[in-house]
Amino acid sequence: MNHIQGSLIYEGKAKRIFACENPDLVLIEFKNDATAFNAKKRSEIEGKGSLNCKISASLFKLLESNGIPTHFLELHSETFMIADKINVIPLEVVIRNIATGSLCRETPINQGTILNPPLLDLYYKDDELGDPILTEGRLKLLNIVDNIQMDEIEMMTRSVNNILKEYFDSLDLLLVDFKLEFGTNSSGTIVVADEISPDNCRFWDKKNSDPKQRILDKDRFRQDLGGVLDAYEEILKRIEKGPS
Ligand code: TMP
Repeated sequence: MNHIQGSLIYEGKAKRIFACENPDLVLIEFKNDATAFNAKKRSEIEGKGSLNCKISASLFKLLESNGIPTHFLELHSETFMIADKINVIPLEVVIRNIATGSLCRETPINQGTILNPPLLDLYYKDDELGDPILTEGRLKLLNIVDNIQMDEIEMMTRSVNNILKEYFDSLDLLLVDFKLEFGTNSSGTIVVADEISPDNCRFWDKKNSDPKQRILDKDRFRQDLGGVLDAYEEILKRIEKGPS
């Protein structure tokens, strides 16, 4: 269905949200802007928006087909998708299968340690505060979600991880960790929102053991490894080709 792009509702670091003629829906534009370290590092990567839009659409469809509710409705164009208008829950929910990134910077846990069960880390979604990590006590104090909603978010995140881990394994990719965001739709259901792409997931190529070459996600940008777009293209290529 053709939707009409209305006024800009919100602009984030990697996406713009526009109203559309149906008040329950929004148009989400995926930008080429790349940022890291709370936008202290910035660049523009031509083609990233369209890759992330297509990758996210495929992964949202995969989740929906496995019974996980998401905000995704349909692709609108190369860089736009139609999604449910949601109330954003200001949490960044990170789940880690293999230790790397901030976990290894901030604790003595060794790079590459398998985390079984996967580790769930919660962050408060607030750019001005630099998305600080939350303790259970702080989460309660902030009153963002109640216990039942938090249990549901944790269960959904673990289910999404199981689905995606198995799926990417079949594409010869290790799903190292990723970040999810959630919201509530007009009927009050908690849904997976935002995006699922190499911007917010870490993927390691199972066919490559070199610790730098195997990286196929935004760490290539964060660590100045080059080949950012090629890595994102490789992820989409494997999704489109399917399991071998
Ligand atoms: P971290 O190791 O830097 O904490 O990142 C964990 C995962 O979360 C990784 O897949 C990248 C993703 N992430 C985001 O999507 N947004 C962010 O702002 C940060 C810090 C991480």
